[in-house]
Amino acid sequence: MELTHRPRRLRRTGPVRSLIRETELCPQHLIYPIFVTKGEHVRDPINTMPGQFRLSIDEVVQECEILLKLGVGAVNLFGYSPEKDETGKFAWDTEGLIPRCVRALKVVHPEVCVQTDVALDPYTTHGHDGLVFGGEIVNDETVEALCQMALCHAEAGADWIAPSDMMDGRVGAIREALDANGFANTGILAYSAKYASCFYGPFRGALGSAPKSDAAPKDKKTYQMDPANVREALKEVALDIEEGADVVMVKPALAYLDVIRAVREEFDVPVAAYNVSGEYAMVCAAAEKGWVEKDRALLEILFSIRRAGADMILSYFAKDAATLLREQYGKFA
Ligand code: PBG
Repeated sequence: MELTHRPRRLRRTGPVRSLIRETELCPQHLIYPIFVTKGEHVRDPINTMPGQFRLSIDEVVQECEILLKLGVGAVNLFGYSPEKDETGKFAWDTEGLIPRCVRALKVVHPEVCVQTDVALDPYTTHGHDGLVFGGEIVNDETVEALCQMALCHAEAGADWIAPSDMMDGRVGAIREALDANGFANTGILAYSAKYASCFYGPFRGALGSAPKSDAAPKDKKTYQMDPANVREALKEVALDIEEGADVVMVKPALAYLDVIRAVREEFDVPVAAYNVSGEYAMVCAAAEKGWVEKDRALLEILFSIRRAGADMILSYFAKDAATLLREQYGKFA
């Protein structure tokens, strides 16, 4: 048979495949999400996320040392707060877990890119990211609270503030508050296109933050996006860029690879994607049953997110992936 094109010629050996590989994945592209809890020497296993822990501040500091050695230079911090109320005020307590953790990290590892989640859900009794008045998640009052939370994290030394709440206008308001208070160098990683997804289940288990009050909606559909939409994602991203976001995020990642691609093609800003807890848990569960090979699955997933167009990826697999990538570095595959 005489064929002009034989694409298989470029798949014959490891070195040839390496020459034509189109996408790169490095530990430096990854951001490790960490759950911070109180106490000392605490590594509290999260049962919905095998291999992940709620860590006390001293353990977070140690974890960062391991991450840096692996080539992962960024963490995203979430607070585990048993103290909750209707106002979410523990979210901007300067002696709260997150500000203390940021300060401790900055003393020992000043170069780590410390990102902090800004949303009220770990700190409210009803589990919503915003304030609830009369059964509704109110926007503008929430934005004021988020600005206080962002300032509290910036004062502690956070490099990037990461608002994950999906309130309207919060990026602009946070930018203004930061600038007015001398934090012009603090960046904003905006959760711009965040969908109302079932894949956050294990995370909500880890923080005890599932929406739970009778006086408020049981889901987050009035602020997080409908999974059926993509044009709306582009609008959200455009608004966040206009309001001053430094990096925009699509979340979750796997069921939204087309959204990542669309954002990448439409805008010239760095794009982040969040490989969320449910995506992590599914791989762990299938691997536990022997149905997929965990190491191959997690790299394949992270590659797909990079291929879709993400510059950086938040992933609970960051440590595993960095370890594997370092083992494989310089080898032909
Ligand atoms: C809440 C928040 C959530 C996640 C990050 N920030 C959950 C939610 O919106 O209910 C999910 C992360 C994950 O599932 O890994 N502000």
